[in-house]
Amino acid sequence: MCGIVGMIGQGQTKAMILKGLETLEYRGYDSAGIALHTGRAVDVYREKGRIADLKKHIPTDADAHLGIGHTRWATHGRPSQRNSHPHQSSNGRLTLVHNGVIENEKQLRQEYLHDSIFASDTDTEVIVQLLAQLVEKHGDLPTAIIALQQLLHGSYALAIIDREQPDVLYAVKNKSPLLIGKGEEANYLGSDALAMIDKTKNFYELNDGEYAILTAEAVEIFDREGKKIIRETFEAQIDANDLAKGPFKHYMMKEMNEQPAVIRRIIQAYINDQNETLIDQQILTTLRNAKRIFILAAGTSYHAGLVGKQYIETMAQIPTEVHLASEFVYNMPFIPEGSCFIFISQSGETADSRAALVAIRELGFEALTITNVPGSTLSREANYTLLLHAGPEIAVASTKAYTAQLTVLALTAAAIRNYDLDLKFELARVATAMDHICEMHEQFEMLAQNYFSHGQHAFYIGRHLDYFVALEAALKLKEISYIHTEGFAAGELKHGTIALIEEGTPVVGLIAQAKVANHTRSNLQEVAARGAHTATIVCESLAQAGDTVIIDDVHELFTPLVMVLPVQFLAYYAAYIRDCDIDKPRNLAKSVTVE
Ligand code: M6R
Repeated sequence: MCGIVGMIGQGQTKAMILKGLETLEYRGYDSAGIALHTGRAVDVYREKGRIADLKKHIPTDADAHLGIGHTRWATHGRPSQRNSHPHQSSNGRLTLVHNGVIENEKQLRQEYLHDSIFASDTDTEVIVQLLAQLVEKHGDLPTAIIALQQLLHGSYALAIIDREQPDVLYAVKNKSPLLIGKGEEANYLGSDALAMIDKTKNFYELNDGEYAILTAEAVEIFDREGKKIIRETFEAQIDANDLAKGPFKHYMMKEMNEQPAVIRRIIQAYINDQNETLIDQQILTTLRNAKRIFILAAGTSYHAGLVGKQYIETMAQIPTEVHLASEFVYNMPFIPEGSCFIFISQSGETADSRAALVAIRELGFEALTITNVPGSTLSREANYTLLLHAGPEIAVASTKAYTAQLTVLALTAAAIRNYDLDLKFELARVATAMDHICEMHEQFEMLAQNYFSHGQHAFYIGRHLDYFVALEAALKLKEISYIHTEGFAAGELKHGTIALIEEGTPVVGLIAQAKVANHTRSNLQEVAARGAHTATIVCESLAQAGDTVIIDDVHELFTPLVMVLPVQFLAYYAAYIRDCDIDKPRNLAKSVTVE
């Protein structure tokens, strides 16, 4: 969701920024723009659509040693050229890009900017006009930035160019992600490390309220009051090769196929040769002593949390609740003293989860973040972090992060009270079963053709753990193929929703839980009798003649880890057949950094 890239250095700025923006494409966007400081003026190029469209409008010889770029995911104002970033102050002095939402933009317009003429419908333009006014008032940009932060309410990561300072790039951060990259003869900024990883592996974190002044030689960081902060860089453990698609057409296909390797990597990272789990004892003690555990997350991570609750209650016997992060702050349940929180987030940047984390930390509760991104906001702001070790997930549709989340949750749950299970063995079985499913891709392509090539509605049904996978299956199918899909508790269908079943409606039953298998089969018969086009995805030991997809058996607790692969592949092929933009589905952002 909105991507920012900036550079100050020795030329090649345009190429670096455009490449960085392309790397950030996965975050989701609907328009893009770039500003280059030529030494005398700041040239701005903006286009609705893809970066490829933007490139066509930038003169080939345009370059600079200072520039900023942006991919916009519309919040205030429709996707259009006039609403694309960068935005400039009316006097032309300041140019900036913004990620986040200014909550009091209307009030700021009325109070300070009633005489200004706006060239866009964005909240971002409010920032740049206000900042220009503050520069006039205070005489210099750093003082104006300090004053600006006192007026803005909301989230903002800003990269700012001052026409009068061709050798300086400014960065400001509050609640939205922004990292500074330390180079040799250049310095960089970006929404995440991936945007700069082919230039540097050394980064400075910026905390909320801080701003930074970058020149080609130095990076200086200041707090909200303008006091200089001494901060060390950290090294990002990302391999630039992880960003390549390799032989795959889409990142999603690459990432689905990586899942067996990810499980094996997690086993290596978390289980030693003596079969002991390598999770920090402090984390385990905190969880063990918790009266109640609250799991908070969004989207796919929320679905992982639903399974995680079962793991914690079964293996550690601690009462656990799962909540949507976006609802939690506004609809807070009773939280008993001695409760502990687990945040699950692939990106570690989801604004809804972050708002909940801030709220519960203010109430004095401890939090563990399970994330794929070291150094991410949710990781830094929680007491503890467990990493997923899944490698960068670029496709908007989350696949390998989900299975990694389940694996780390299972390992944690088992370690809390030393649950008697050979996890190394069981998870290795999972990885092998996943290998076999990845080899079945031709079958999934045929099934997608048969079930999802046309029609606008579909259902996944299941019971117990299968139900949670059905929710994830439905999300996967709808987000990339745009087929309206519901994941349903199989037994609940007949209490109303069965009215939607028509001749040919696809209904896929997930059957991996022995004690409810027959019930789910009966529910499938009920819908088949009403014209549904039914299919089954079944574990080998529960299979019957006529089942559609049969996958290897694994330990019953870990069936979601394997059941989810066929539904990911089906979603992929459904989207492929329908000619959808698989890695960058419409309206979606990978990292949802606004509430
Ligand atoms: O980065 P997070 O795990 O916090 O993201 C949460 C959701 O936005 C994310 O899982 C989303 O639902 C995915 N697009 C689903 O594939």
